[in-house]
Amino acid sequence: MYLETLEKLDIELTNTCNLKCPYCLKVKPSLKEFVKNFQELDYEVLTSFITKLKKYKLKEVILMGSLSEPTLYPKFLDLIRFLKGLNLTIHISSNANTHNEEWWKELATLLTCKDSIIFSVDGSTQQIYKKYRIGGDLEKVKKHFQAFCSVQKENYSEVYLQTIDFPWYKCDEEYEKIKELFDPNKEYKFQRSYIKNYYPEKESGKLAKTEVFFRKNIESKIKSGTSLKPDCYVLKNKNLYMTYLGDIIPCGVVYEKYLFGSERKEGKIPNIYEINIDSSETFSQDFILKFNSFFKEHFTQTIFKNYECLRRCTKLYSNMFYIRNPKEEDT
Ligand SMILES: C[S@@+](CC[C@H](N)C(=O)[O-])C[C@H]1O[C@@H](n2cnc3c(N)ncnc32)[C@H](O)[C@@H]1O
Ligand code: SF4
Repeated sequence: MYLETLEKLDIELTNTCNLKCPYCLKVKPSLKEFVKNFQELDYEVLTSFITKLKKYKLKEVILMGSLSEPTLYPKFLDLIRFLKGLNLTIHISSNANTHNEEWWKELATLLTCKDSIIFSVDGSTQQIYKKYRIGGDLEKVKKHFQAFCSVQKENYSEVYLQTIDFPWYKCDEEYEKIKELFDPNKEYKFQRSYIKNYYPEKESGKLAKTEVFFRKNIESKIKSGTSLKPDCYVLKNKNLYMTYLGDIIPCGVVYEKYLFGSERKEGKIPNIYEINIDSSETFSQDFILKFNSFFKEHFTQTIFKNYECLRRCTKLYSNMFYIRNPKEEDT
């Protein structure tokens, strides 16, 4: 993965969220210091960086993040206008508790059929919803969802209602009830998400078990198969991740490693504040070299040599990252 080949960028716009979902990375005690005071990516630096990337292969921007709510970025709608001006495809995930109906209508007018948005709804009643979406208001989500959909005519973007597969409800049944509540006459896409259990592991025997299962499964495959090759989501999709500090890292799975790690202290991680926003048409040679050597080292060392990345990934994203047998693929 090199700067020139990057097609998708997942951006964490701020370090802030309005909710306190108990298994979100945001509530992890080790991150307390990082989410304490509001921080955001500088709009000018960010847009200059994206403009330069667009001159290479950038096609899609994901506004989701790992510990924040993207719509809380103060210049969120300006950013959407800017990205659409560059003809980039946008994917958003939101808890939709923010702003008001007018704001959500405005967002809907800016998005096109190439774009997509996930409304995270984990329950068909406030009682069920608040089990995970602590601080959230299901009625508000419903209103914002309906406002958004009301202006989406022919050219509408893909709208997903997402429910996470929690052990306290049957995901498919809950989704049917949510659909009934939100808009029984329309067909929206349903996205089932699998649980990532960051915290608190001790209290969640049931959740942890899924991860233990996937981890054991993958560990035994790694041990037994020298010919097994990791099939990395990031490499496959030419996809990288930007933190709210402007660091560009491989993906959200390694978030903590790079947030706390020695690479950051030693200044090894490429950071968008290193680019010169005023001048050059493209990136400086120094920036390109740093960027490319950082990712070359990461992918060769952590994926292909010692599987560190694979192990982390299977702990958190067991559904995205698996290993394939190149022999099977060849036949
Ligand atoms: C960390 S959130 C950030 C975006 C936004 N705040 C939201 O909740 O939609 C990114 C995605 O992870 C999902 N998510 C949150 N907690 C999760 C968990 N424990 N397991 C799996 N997915 C989770 C959210 O629904 C969302 O689609
Ligand atoms: S709304 Fe999203 S970012 Fe906020 S706590 Fe919940 S999962 Fe985390």
